[in-house]
Amino acid sequence: MFYETARNDHGLPYNPFKAIVAPRPIGWISSMSAKGEVNLAPYSFFNGLTDHPPTVMFASEGRKDSVVFAEETKEFVCNLATWALREQMNGTSTPFARGINEMEQTGLAAAPSRLVKPPRVRDSPCALECKWLQTVRLSDVEGKALERYVVFGQAIGVYIDDRFIKNGRLDTAAMKPIARCGYDEYAVVESVFKMTRPPGGGKNV
Ligand SMILES: Cc1cc2nc3c(=O)[nH]c(=O)nc-3n(C[C@H](O)[C@H](O)[C@H](O)COP(=O)(O)O)c2cc1C
Repeated sequence: MFYETARNDHGLPYNPFKAIVAPRPIGWISSMSAKGEVNLAPYSFFNGLTDHPPTVMFASEGRKDSVVFAEETKEFVCNLATWALREQMNGTSTPFARGINEMEQTGLAAAPSRLVKPPRVRDSPCALECKWLQTVRLSDVEGKALERYVVFGQAIGVYIDDRFIKNGRLDTAAMKPIARCGYDEYAVVESVFKMTRPPGGGKNV
């Protein structure tokens, strides 16, 4: 099959786009307003962009609290969403009123970050403490400005739960990160495989 997105004539009950761009890592973003209100929400239009320096992005459909707070205080934290925390992660996507702390609402403990003010999710095995770099408002192919915002940040501090470091490497499969697929589907990473890059093709680590 083939369909044109402008026509959306795929004939399927639901748009398949998110099932194609899958699995997507989940940036579980904690942020703080200028007034000190704490916010936590999952964003699966999220990724790391570069590792030197370590940069990340998340994209918001609308100017959601995470965007507004990250801009207000120029900081945010990306917590790793895991199988063990899946229900709480989902709970933090509830559209609470601005200023309501999703960590408290979902019974998640907060832990202080080291270099930025927004707290991290205590029981998440990894957290990237980020400084806001810029927000880009997207336009479509006709140049029409969209209510779609991409927030870029640079990780200046990285928390890792030492229990997941084995033989000097982070054991990704042991953390069981979850990722977003299409519809109501998620993936969980429980196994990994190794493959070395071709000679001259770049670093393997
Ligand atoms: C797994 C998951 C991934 C999500 N990814 C996004 C996303 O990439 N962009 C977005 O705008 N909303 C996304 N949402 C919805 C937001 O989490 C939701 O609108 C939330 O209330 C936003 O919170 P905030 O206003 O506190 O930032 C996602 C929800 C879930 C459960």
